Amino acid sequence: MIPTIEWQNGIVRMIDQRYLPRRMQFYNCRNYHDVIKAIQTMVIRGAPAIGIAAAMGMALAAASSKAKQASTLIKNLEQAGEKMKSARPTAVNLAWAVDIMLDIARASHHLSCELIKENLQDKAISILNDDIAINQSMGKNGAGLMPEQGGVLTHCNAGALATGGYGTALGVIRAAWEAGKRPHVYADETRPFLQGLRLTAWELMEDNIPVTVIADNSAGFLMQKGMIQCVIVGADRIAANGDVANKIGTYQTAVLAKENNIPFYVAAPLSTIDMSLPSGNNIPIENRDPKEITTIAGKLFAPENTIAMNIAFDITPNRYITGIITEKCVAKMPYTESLKSLF
Ligand code: MRU
Repeated sequence: MIPTIEWQNGIVRMIDQRYLPRRMQFYNCRNYHDVIKAIQTMVIRGAPAIGIAAAMGMALAAASSKAKQASTLIKNLEQAGEKMKSARPTAVNLAWAVDIMLDIARASHHLSCELIKENLQDKAISILNDDIAINQSMGKNGAGLMPEQGGVLTHCNAGALATGGYGTALGVIRAAWEAGKRPHVYADETRPFLQGLRLTAWELMEDNIPVTVIADNSAGFLMQKGMIQCVIVGADRIAANGDVANKIGTYQTAVLAKENNIPFYVAAPLSTIDMSLPSGNNIPIENRDPKEITTIAGKLFAPENTIAMNIAFDITPNRYITGIITEKCVAKMPYTESLKSLF
């Protein structure tokens, strides 16, 4: 199994995804500041993986606290949690995980600091293990929707590397393969960070699932030519009405899918659904350093001083989404009702 993130004797060890697939290098976080830096610099990325990292970061924050009283430890954790939540804005799994850890700490206020620290460590590890099980359930719920053969298009990386393991969208594809179906995966390269080219291609090839990488702007042509039977992507945040924030470029893929009568599925755990936001308009969208656009592997490819814009996510309106595959069931239109019934 791909060890995306692990708790190892008080150290959080992650695959440093910036170097994949050229080399497998690990990044060790010894305190919660290291975890924040890892999330911001894309050592680890993908909504569920960021959530797990945040939970483990909170366990590290507790472990390093010098507090003698539970109330002081909880204050320390609240401060760490605020910083952790601001590491990246779009994936709601980050705030979801921090809040779970704070709830555990507050509910343990009558215990010794040592016990609270232990409880937090146990919870962080169980969030990791639960995530893998949730992805496997999502896989079971979604496998039937995948074609027996033909092409399945995906965008970005919603696989083992974006989660605790197995993946959301790629988990559904894995489950379809395990059930004997033989879809061929087309992976958008996913400019500018190239999650599709580097990460999706790598992890599917590790599993011997055939994958062809395409330039992001080829998707429409492949659909027109009948090469794509279904699209499946992950999500960073889903609003109560089913609007989906995911990697920039998802929206145009969804519009193209509708134009070509191709089903468009989103696979995401319940922890990615933000029932506090009525629609996608309320989802904060991350803007990243324009250098990620103008440079490739650290080399400037644009003219000196080119102005570039690096919007990391977009919103796909619910009307383009055929179904949202969760660990409980596949939610369908009208999403305001179907998503509400999941909680
Ligand atoms: O910027 P990233 O790489 O963190 O963006 C990741 C995505 O957009 C994924 O599709 C999403 O987080 C779902 S991962 C299961």
